[in-house]
Amino acid sequence: MNAPASPICWLNGRFLPLAEASIPVLDRGFIFGDGVYEVIPVYGRQPFRLAEHLARLARSLAAVRITNPHDDATWTSLITELVARQDFSDQSVYIQVTRGVAKRDHAFPKDTVPTVFMMSNALVTPPAALVDSGVAAITATDNRWLRCDVKATALLANVLLKQLAVDAGAAEVVLLRDGPDATAPRRLTEGSSSNIFVVRDGAIATPKRDHFVLPGITLDVVAELARAAGIPFEERDLTEADVRAADELWLASSTREVLAITSLDGRPVGIGMPGPMYRRMITLFQQHRSERRP
Ligand code: PDD
Repeated sequence: MNAPASPICWLNGRFLPLAEASIPVLDRGFIFGDGVYEVIPVYGRQPFRLAEHLARLARSLAAVRITNPHDDATWTSLITELVARQDFSDQSVYIQVTRGVAKRDHAFPKDTVPTVFMMSNALVTPPAALVDSGVAAITATDNRWLRCDVKATALLANVLLKQLAVDAGAAEVVLLRDGPDATAPRRLTEGSSSNIFVVRDGAIATPKRDHFVLPGITLDVVAELARAAGIPFEERDLTEADVRAADELWLASSTREVLAITSLDGRPVGIGMPGPMYRRMITLFQQHRSERRP
């Protein structure tokens, strides 16, 4: 039997089979996690919110002082070609840009060319059963660095936190950041790979955008859909008490869309089932993204 063909990826100026793509061990992405990334969902071969993802990529690159290797038009044509070269139509495009290859030294190397890598995986949107049942989550102290607004590839803290959830049989970890002193309540930030929403008394709230939270593109979609439907939506500080008193909790990301969190630390959230606001939002979300399919 023939081995399945390796998907086509992009590395430093050319398309090639993923199985043949390799980078030098001195790449600073490997040595230091010195790079940034993006994940862009693609529905029916159409990238979803591409301009917003490219704008966030540009902001991440600027924040870590890596020159953006391409303008938006070039990124768009490369992504279009990468998407066209895959066998499946729903995809998640992964882009990574690192500071490049150099002798190991913490300081920026001079005149090093960034490494640019892109691949695309099949996007498996949450199955109906998961949308109907919701997922379990646990809480943990947010021990990440103080620039979580940058989509950096250095994700060790996120990896360790996500594994706590997996070890507990849960799908996500809801992160609570310690306050400025021992008496201050812990504040909700986000999930290890998602943004988190609290629903209480018919209103949706999510933490306001600061250095502790990634400005999620899916979060923006939820905010837009809520506002267009006349559902109260607020970005504000949320404490651990707000999380524990929620009628509904949701998570959102480019690969998981919007999911209800129906148990937290082993206790039911609200009625322990996806609530009425979630059902409304997921219907709006699915309509919105299917309207954008060709
Ligand atoms: N992660 N917060 C964190 C820490 C994330 O890693 C992500 C997404 C989000 C949601 O952002 P968006 O809606 O733009 O996907 C929030 C991606 C999917 C990942 O790392 O694979």
